[in-house]
Amino acid sequence: MSKYEVQTLKDPNDKTVLEKKHVPFITAPDSVKKGEVFEVTVKMGKEIDHPMEEGHFIEFFDVYAGDMKVANVTFTPECEAEATLKLKLDETVTLKVEEYCNLHGYWKNETEIKVK
Ligand SMILES: [Fe+2]
Repeated sequence: MSKYEVQTLKDPNDKTVLEKKHVPFITAPDSVKKGEVFEVTVKMGKEIDHPMEEGHFIEFFDVYAGDMKVANVTFTPECEAEATLKLKLDETVTLKVEEYCNLHGYWKNETEIKVK
């Protein structure tokens, strides 16, 4: 694993401990109406909560709609590694989340959101 490389889930049926803690878990609707505000929740990770303590914590995550950055959330060790955002979209996109752990680097996940 290189710190210069964005990690992601390699095999959903055989997750490593690092993947269980770090891959952003995205909760969002599959489809929305154009321009309608909807909620997206991002949590690190899914099966195992990522530690949030001095020396090891999730520093931030960025959300991209396609190639456009639409949000950035910064954490301190005082936070839980989870946030809910309100977004609106004009067209169907791949919503991508990239998070950064100060020890384990960048991790990403993505989901498609259809706009009707
Ligand atoms: Fe970590």
